[in-house]
Amino acid sequence: MANKPSLKSVNRLRFLHNNDERERRIAAAPETPLPKDYPVNRLSRALHPDRQYVKIAAIKTWDDNCKSFTFAPDPARGTEHLAFFKAGSYLSVFLDVDGMKLTRPYSISSSPAEALDDRVTLTIKRVPGGIASNYMLDHWQMGDEVTLTGPLGEFVYLPVRDGKTVIGVAGGSGITPFHSFAKAIAEGDEDFRLVLLYGSRTEKDILFKDEFDEIQKLTDKVKVVHVLSDEEKPGFEHGFITAELIKKYAPQEDYSIFLCGPAGMYSFLDKQIETLHLERKWVRHELQGEVHNPEKLPDYPNSRPVPAEVKITVRICGEEQTITADTGDTILQSLEKHGIAAPAHCRSGECGWCHSLLLSGEVYCPKHLEHRREADLDFGYIHPCCTFPLSDIAVEVPYAK
Ligand code: FES
Repeated sequence: MANKPSLKSVNRLRFLHNNDERERRIAAAPETPLPKDYPVNRLSRALHPDRQYVKIAAIKTWDDNCKSFTFAPDPARGTEHLAFFKAGSYLSVFLDVDGMKLTRPYSISSSPAEALDDRVTLTIKRVPGGIASNYMLDHWQMGDEVTLTGPLGEFVYLPVRDGKTVIGVAGGSGITPFHSFAKAIAEGDEDFRLVLLYGSRTEKDILFKDEFDEIQKLTDKVKVVHVLSDEEKPGFEHGFITAELIKKYAPQEDYSIFLCGPAGMYSFLDKQIETLHLERKWVRHELQGEVHNPEKLPDYPNSRPVPAEVKITVRICGEEQTITADTGDTILQSLEKHGIAAPAHCRSGECGWCHSLLLSGEVYCPKHLEHRREADLDFGYIHPCCTFPLSDIAVEVPYAK
């Protein structure tokens, strides 16, 4: 048998001296141009579309403050089918409200299998003083045209990282990704055991109660424990979700904890979960959400004077514009209020989509939303979705398609 060439015997620079052979092959090649689109490109676009153009196909009203909107593709605007996704993903909604160009991320509450039937559902709860959620709840009607991103996010189950059991901890509308997880488990698209601790004020505030009851009849891999803070009833836990309650329902073996809810729930539960001494990889948070009233955060530079208003000079698409901004708004919120369509998806400093260059001025980014790389810090890049101006600033923002 001939000796196999070793790596040492391979002349890795041979291609530099192989021009004759290369030219012979080019001359012998057919003149038909190479295809511009390969199957892998089409698959990639189907799974990760920049935009999904949809129409509202169903509306479920939970109460005056919460609705589920189900969307179907809108082929007339270019979307033939909806993208498949992993349970736990979110979609960003594009909105134009009174001249403001907004995007808002919402966890998908329907299951991946429903996307194959060209249906996807977002469940939206009113936020006191909120612009986007209130607009959608008060204005969206059946048949309205809506533009969404493709599925995004990291709040998904990965067998190589997560335990065979996930303790889901949900508060309020943070239940939406867990409904998607539970359905995906019942439909065979996910394979783990979900123990869901779902905190609500009273029984009537529980979302998806009937749906979870049905899912638990279909599979023994999903167990839902309702925790009521303002009501004591048989069959329900009472109080807040604590480390003790997690221990009560946790398995003996390793488990992951997935949290989704309001910011107050995270800060309370993070301290509780610390006492469980779990490895960091076992604890996952859904998007932290936008910060309001940054001056109340412990690391805000309250020791220095910060004016109520500053000027932001924005460079976008080669043009420059100066706007007046409230220092209580993120840079992204100020741009949107002035009709400047800056790119954004997660609005929590996680996805990097809004990555922009700070040209001058001082800014503040809350520590818990600081996800920039060392190089970003060195070269002055910021995430406008979670960065607040402290002085007049200038910033170069990429164009949002
Ligand atoms: S929008 Fe995701 S990091 Fe800013």
